[in-house]
Order: sequence, then structure tokens, then C-alpha cells
Amino acid sequence: IKKIGVLTSGGDAPGMNAAVRAVVRTAIAKGIEVYGIYDGYLGLHEGRIKKLERHNVSDMINRGGTFLGSARFPEFKEESVRHTAIANMRKLDIEALVVVGGDGSYMGAKKMTEMGFPCIGLPGTIDNDIAGTDYTIGFHTALNTVLDAIDRLRDTSSSHNRISIVEIMGRHCGDLTMMAAIGGGAEFTIIPEKGYNEDELVASIVSDVEKGKKHAIIAITEHITNVADLAMVIEKRTHLETRATILGHTQRGGSPCAFDRIMASEMGAFAVELLIQGEAGRCVGIQSNKLTHHDIIDAIENMARPFNQSIYDLTKILS
Ligand code: F6P
Repeated sequence: IKKIGVLTSGGDAPGMNAAVRAVVRTAIAKGIEVYGIYDGYLGLHEGRIKKLERHNVSDMINRGGTFLGSARFPEFKEESVRHTAIANMRKLDIEALVVVGGDGSYMGAKKMTEMGFPCIGLPGTIDNDIAGTDYTIGFHTALNTVLDAIDRLRDTSSSHNRISIVEIMGRHCGDLTMMAAIGGGAEFTIIPEKGYNEDELVASIVSDVEKGKKHAIIAITEHITNVADLAMVIEKRTHLETRATILGHTQRGGSPCAFDRIMASEMGAFAVELLIQGEAGRCVGIQSNKLTHHDIIDAIENMARPFNQSIYDLTKILS
């Protein structure tokens, strides 16, 4: 293999730059040319492709976001759009593509692999919702960011005897919420995997307040309910002031933590090794502390992500 491409796609995640840097430097060390594709699948479709040298990824290991840029590009679902994208790479004799992104990005990589263009997927998303890996690139950094926010909210909510609701990203995955709830000592943890019953939640907060609780942190994943409305309901029933904080995109930014930098570097280098070994259509993961790879089609179609029940149970026991 002589030429490969690399792109980042979907929501950016801290550590994506470290992954791209590792792809670029490992490939060059093995005599392979690397082409950076800017702005994800959108840029691939529009031919925004530039050769990358070692120095292009200098001073990148510590930077959040993605220097290659990213985009949400639903049009990539159309076969004709993917044909143009593949043709743009073939024009430059690019033989394979490394895609760093979340589940939507994996779907694009899977489809191109099925069309005969080999792709390798690296899990890059703060959501930790990708099959075939215990952790995704960006998850631990976002977790530390959320934890820092919870610590700050605890300071002020305990000073004012208030209840704080903190809305945490994750789309349909409660991992970020659960782990942050444990690390931040949240009293209540609401995640999409477990359903939501507002009456039950409010009743148990009321019961805690009646027992003398003066403040509490409620960690809740986004898209479950309107947290501002929930705050009003809780305040009315408990007579304790209640505030809702939506952490939003602050969770996506920031310099990657050590774990994400190192894991992303290992995964990026591993992706290049796989291509050299002739592997294609694979997605890289870390499972039980070991780098692994799975068939990308199988991962998307058949591999369900196991729910971490013991972590969820711990949020209840320790709250
Ligand atoms: O997938 C990462 C993520 O940050 C999710 O947690 C969130 O639901 C979504 O992206 C937000 O997307 P956007 O940045 O396009 O609003």
C-alpha cells in the first residue's frame, strides 16, 4: 500500500488530532504517503484533499477539536455522493481511508468498504457509544470536563441549599452521565437506557428532602426531558431552590487528557499497521486494555454495545 487518506467526521472529540498525527507519522515512517481530507465526508465529496507531511501534525498532540475539520453530512447516505467521494480518492491513487468518528461516520466507512474502497474506522466521539471498544477517543477528556463542572455546581448548590440538575451529552448513551455521576457523587442519575419516570424521580427527591437533605446533584443525559421545566417541578414540590445547567458543547472542547492522547496514538498507529497487513473494512477498539479490530460491517450490524449495569448499580449504592 502506497497512499492512504485520513479524515475526521461527525462531532469533534478531544484526541482526534492525536489519532491523525499517529496515522500520519506511522505511515510516513513506513514509506506510505498520507492525504488529509478536510471537513469530513463533505470535504471528501468536494475534493478538499491535501498531502500531509510530518511537520503538518507538529504541535497537534495537545490540541482539542480536529485540525482537519469535521462536518455532519447526511447526503453521504446517497450512493451517488459516495461514488464521487471514492472517485476523488482514486484520482490521487489513494488506496485506503482511515476514518476517525462516531457511529454515523462508521456507517459511511462501512458503505464505502462495501463499494470496494477499503476503510478502517477509529472510534472518535465523546459519547462512548461505539460497538467493539470499551472506550472511544474523547470520552475520558469529556468525562473530566463534566466532573469539573459537577464539582463547581456542588460548591455553589451546597452553599445555597439548592438542588442542581446537570444535563450531560451522550446522545442515546448514558456512559458519560453514569461515570460523571459516580466521580462527582451525584445523588440521582438519569440515563436513556433505564427509562424516565418524572413522578418517581420527584417523589424520591421529596423523600430525601423530608429526611433532611439540603442540596443534591441530579445528573441527567440530554434528550430525556426539558431540564428547565423539571427544575420548576422539583422546586415546587420540595420548596428548595432548583437550578438546571446544560453543559452543552463545553463538553466537546479542551485539550485531550493523557488517556485519550495515548489511546488515540496507539489506535492511529494500529490502523496503519492493519492496512500494511492487508486488512480492510475493520474498526479498531480497545478491549480489556488490548488493541482489537473487528469487521466494520459486523460491528455496525450485529455487535450490540453491552450496557454497564454494574456501574449503573454503583450510582445507586453510592448516592
Ligand atoms: O456525538 C457527539 C455529540 O456531542 C452528542 O453528545 C450530541 O448529542 C451531539 O454530538 C451534538 O451534535 P451537534 O454538535 O451537531 O449539535
